[in-house]
Amino acid sequence: MVVIVVGGQWGDEGKGKVIDLLAERADLAIRSQGGNNAGHTVVTEHGEFKFQLLPSGILYPTCTCIIGNGVVVDPRVLLKEIDQLRERGLEPDNLVVSERAHMVMSYHPLFDQLEEGVRGDDRLGTTWRGIGPAYSDKVRRIGFRIGDLQKEVFMRKKLDFVVGQVKNPILQKLYSEQPLDAEALLAEYLEYAKRLDRYIKDTYPIVQAALDRGDNILLEGAQATMLDLDFGTYPYVTSSNPTAGGALTGSGIAPTRVDQTVVVVKGYTSRVGYGPFPTELLDDLGELIRERGREYGTVTGRARRVGWFDGPVARYSTRLNGATSVALMKVDVLSEVETLKLCTGYRFRGEVHDHPMANISHLKHCEPVYEEMPGWRADISRCTEWSDLPRECRDYVERVGEVCGAPVDLIGVGPHRDQLVMRRPILFQRETAAR
Ligand code: GDP
Ligand code: IMO
Ligand code: MG
Repeated sequence: MVVIVVGGQWGDEGKGKVIDLLAERADLAIRSQGGNNAGHTVVTEHGEFKFQLLPSGILYPTCTCIIGNGVVVDPRVLLKEIDQLRERGLEPDNLVVSERAHMVMSYHPLFDQLEEGVRGDDRLGTTWRGIGPAYSDKVRRIGFRIGDLQKEVFMRKKLDFVVGQVKNPILQKLYSEQPLDAEALLAEYLEYAKRLDRYIKDTYPIVQAALDRGDNILLEGAQATMLDLDFGTYPYVTSSNPTAGGALTGSGIAPTRVDQTVVVVKGYTSRVGYGPFPTELLDDLGELIRERGREYGTVTGRARRVGWFDGPVARYSTRLNGATSVALMKVDVLSEVETLKLCTGYRFRGEVHDHPMANISHLKHCEPVYEEMPGWRADISRCTEWSDLPRECRDYVERVGEVCGAPVDLIGVGPHRDQLVMRRPILFQRETAAR
């Protein structure tokens, strides 16, 4: 059985927590795109874990965790994450890295920063983790794959070419920067090779055998639909396809094998970095939601922009990803807001649109159409059953489901892994501990 979990807004919806719900009974968990621009939080009885490259299923030794072919891996960050896990007494013996995955090379973050610098006021607000430059090199066929770490002669020859013929001329002539030293880079990467060797494998046979056995397979999306290279607010997007389609190409699973797709959204909306955000709240209420929801970047610490729930965005996501369930997270953050607003369309030049327009300047200048709903005063953080939630809260969740056109099966009421209200189980989710 295959379940895909993807983000339905602009990221940081609480995907890590939903993944954690499913990972205990998953045989295989696969990260299939993005890199260490992602930050997925799981809060357990052992404290808080923030995963950037490691699949969030890594906490379960029985779950084989694959960093798939579609991910871009910075070996320095991966090794640091492995070390951090070890410091907490956990050994990632269940980790596998696809030899087809490309590497974020140590020069990619530099290029990310330099490219953002020359954009000036039009900068994208990337995470500076070198994600865009690494994917660009993959497409230009001058990228290095993780499997290349096991081929010293090949690495030397290719580094000589890429550094000497491509990177250094740009660094020196365009940016007046110091040139890179190919020999030093080779030495650095051979060190990473030694430490990562045991995890590097061809993942095709592992994934296919799991499919043949009918194992539980969990695809962990990073980023989100509105950051998708094709369907997001281009160019204010990431450089991969975080939609369900990207999860498949990034892992080597055929579309006919997918059983369920969970689209994760929160009860409001957030965005890090620049780009249009029609329902953004720039007032005191926005500040209150940011503080209550602790909306500060998991990776960069940047304050996240926040706004009302954006129905057109959520519906677009459920449709593009073929959602069988919606997980609506962080609903607790909205407690005590007197009147909630829910955007159902965008008015632009007299017309109301029910989905995000491809032209981002229209999106930037549209006016959101809102419905108002009464809020609730009660603390919902200890609710475990649908019937425990105040009526106004249930009405809000129902309305979100209607607007999304998909059932809201999970409701997040707090950061801890057990702070969830389940309405309908998702395939192979764990039994929840009673609180
Ligand atoms: P991801 O990137 O989608 O995995 O999300 P992040 O981990 O970047 O951000 C989500 C944040 O919200 C984390 O700090 C989570 O611990 C927290 N969180 C997740 N679900 C809930 C919830 O239902 N309520 C509250 N209050 N916090 C939540
Ligand atoms: P998770 O998986 C939120 C945003 C960046 C920037 C844009 C491009 O934790 O939800 P990049 O470094 O990818 O080239 O930056 O994408 N971004 C995210 N925003 N959550 C993420 O991941 C993000 N990954 C990238 O802030 O606006
Ligand atoms: Mg995140």
